[in-house]
Amino acid sequence: MKFFIDTANLAQIKEAQDLGILDGVTTNPTLMAKEGITGEENVMAHYKAICDIVDDKVSAEVISTDYEGMIAEGEKLAAIDKKIVVKIPMIKDGIKALKYFSKKGIRTNCTLIFSAGQALLAAKAGATYVSPFVGRLDDISTDGTQLIEDIRIIFDNYGYETEILAASVRHPMHIISCAKIGADVMTGPLSAILALLKHPLTDSGLAQFLADHAKAADLVPAK
Ligand code: E4P
Repeated sequence: MKFFIDTANLAQIKEAQDLGILDGVTTNPTLMAKEGITGEENVMAHYKAICDIVDDKVSAEVISTDYEGMIAEGEKLAAIDKKIVVKIPMIKDGIKALKYFSKKGIRTNCTLIFSAGQALLAAKAGATYVSPFVGRLDDISTDGTQLIEDIRIIFDNYGYETEILAASVRHPMHIISCAKIGADVMTGPLSAILALLKHPLTDSGLAQFLADHAKAADLVPAK
């Protein structure tokens, strides 16, 4: 399973990259705004700064909602760095834009997927990734991981190469559930990734090992 971090915060991206387990980054206009990044020049420079930290796969989202606008914006984003994946919303013109970028060999991430039908359309249009939003479905009492399962079945039935990028992941159990189903990628906050590390028996076991080691060292007669 590939691990993407869902943030535009450079320090957090660097922390995840330094762990050695990071495969990519997803951003969205909300996450960029959270970091106070506004204005085309600053936005472009920020994406470049992210690309300079990670090895590959930085999703940068278009703001336009019409076909021509998405193409123009997506091409500008793709020109920033080879690591950029153009993020396109799941709307009618978005499907056409996915097809356009797919033909040009520019990688895409179709965002705001909330149904299996939407994922199927994006795959047919040649999206590199589809991003079903697990957490936001859970927020409205709908089973987000069930959607991942449905998309997995459909993509496997037809051999679609489009990768399932489980998005809107909020906590470690989302990651585990999506991994069990076979999502290709998950994107979540650093907190959810780091939470995978934790187990109280690991902490108490390590404390015991260190205490026993120190005790044994005390018993060694001084020369
Ligand atoms: C996907 O790429 C989105 O950036 C993201 O996962 C949305 O997550 P949220 O629902 O926690 O805002």
